[in-house]
Amino acid sequence: MPRTAILGTGYHVPDRVVTNDDLTGFMETSDEWIRERTGIEERRWVKEGDTGAAMALAASRMALEEAGIEAGEVDAIVLATLSPDHFFPGTGVFLQRELGVGTIPALDIRAQCSGFVYGLSVADAWIRVGQYRTILLVGVEIQSTGLNLTTEGRDMAVLFGDGAGAAVLQATEDEGRGVLSTHIYSEGEHAEILWGDAPASWRHPRISPEDFEELRIYPSMTGREVFKHAVTRMPQAVQAALEANDLTAEEIDLLIPHQANLRISQMVQKRLRLRDDQVFNNIQRYGNTTAATIPIALAEAVREGRVERGDLLCFTAFGSGFTWGSALVRW
Ligand code: UT7
Repeated sequence: MPRTAILGTGYHVPDRVVTNDDLTGFMETSDEWIRERTGIEERRWVKEGDTGAAMALAASRMALEEAGIEAGEVDAIVLATLSPDHFFPGTGVFLQRELGVGTIPALDIRAQCSGFVYGLSVADAWIRVGQYRTILLVGVEIQSTGLNLTTEGRDMAVLFGDGAGAAVLQATEDEGRGVLSTHIYSEGEHAEILWGDAPASWRHPRISPEDFEELRIYPSMTGREVFKHAVTRMPQAVQAALEANDLTAEEIDLLIPHQANLRISQMVQKRLRLRDDQVFNNIQRYGNTTAATIPIALAEAVREGRVERGDLLCFTAFGSGFTWGSALVRW
């Protein structure tokens, strides 16, 4: 059975930088509060007219170039997002169109912050069974247009950013590299702890003036509950991955945790007893870009020389659903 190697990575973030101080113009908050509780210093937000498909395209082109692969060689697209450009169809088909490739499948994944890890799990399975040889895996998010930028929405609004990350996956016969395992989970009993209530297809109509008045159009969250589950589930998922591969946390060269909150990443690091040099964080500059955090961080880690052939990489994510998971990759 072939394995899945990551041959190229890429990312794109909007030019518009929004600092914590900029947010004080919209709501009662402070740079000090945001840095202390989340580690975030600034994030990128789209400008009017920017689309998720365009960001996905830019990230994908970078990843394809690094991989030395033509878009026409891609056999399938797997695109993770909770903020598709349209209710339907998914953003994947817009990326397929923009790439100018043939009638390859484009699968959108709806697993929120865990979307990249879920997508990697699906793509890895396709590659291992021989269904597809080269897969473009993308995480893309536009969060800024859906936030409540008033004091009432500040707990969510300060956290999120926009961006896209991509990875080119290809079958390899080289047993010394590739995805070693993926572990993915969900627990729907917590669905409403972090969610976007409206629009809702079961309501007639799907979106109403009451949804605006009662603020159901904005995402909502019980932050402390999310925090508590995140710092438990991510280390559990990493331990499951390590045990399945007969490895230890000490052997991880680089952990890339989903960038939800620097305090969450630090607690995950502590629970796994990892050194600072074993963990990659960039939330300071981008905030939480949801399905895009891991591929953006991976692309940056590669460009900063933090990843070398033979390294053991670990991804772990947690988010709305709840969904969570981990992946181990021999680079
Ligand atoms: O991918 C998963 C996405 N979600 C997450 O990762 C979220 C996980 N949770 C968290 O990161 C944290 O719970 C937060 C950073 C969201 C909040 O931190 P916290 O320490 O749990 O604060 P809190 O919600 O308990 O609120 C403490 C105080 C409250 O004021 P009072 O009631 O004590 O007067 C909030 O109103 O902080 C207030 N507050 C803020 N103050 C300034 C909440 N948001 C803000 C803000 N600026 N942006």
